[in-house]
Amino acid sequence: MVTRLTVCVWGAVLLAGCAASGTRPRSAAAVAPSSPPSPAASDSGPAVPDLFRRSVRPVLSRRCGACHDPGGKMYERLPFDDPDVVLSKSESILRRLKEPEEKRAFEEWAAAVPQ
Ligand code: HEC
Repeated sequence: MVTRLTVCVWGAVLLAGCAASGTRPRSAAAVAPSSPPSPAASDSGPAVPDLFRRSVRPVLSRRCGACHDPGGKMYERLPFDDPDVVLSKSESILRRLKEPEEKRAFEEWAAAVPQ
């Protein structure tokens, strides 16, 4: 909920409106490396998106990317580069991750996401 709101705030700032729910949660992350987010929006800091990029994305890409990353047949329905989508499927995803380290990385990120 709050995450959505945050995304909305971002969307509003960056794209002048996300009410149409074409919300693009990636937009903030996509511009992050070259242009840091405005201080107003960095309440929870870039740590959580960073965690997603650094420790969750590589696992999902390696294990699931063939189908859930861009170009994969499931990307349209279940894109794993979208933290909101990934979070909404946490339980199913955790069930599919077999390596304890991969599970831990995922759980660490999921727990850090502001509710
Ligand atoms: C070979 C292609 C392929 C790979 C690799 C793959 N998936 Fe999927 N996934 C699918 C397809 C096709 C569906 C839709 C059919 C279904 O629900 O089983 C799906 C559906 C899902 C769903 C939604 C259904 C549910 O159980 O909630 C989740 C979550 C999911 N995949 C997670 C994963 C995770 C996590 C991985 C990696 C560990 C992964 N998938 C790897 C093809 C793949």
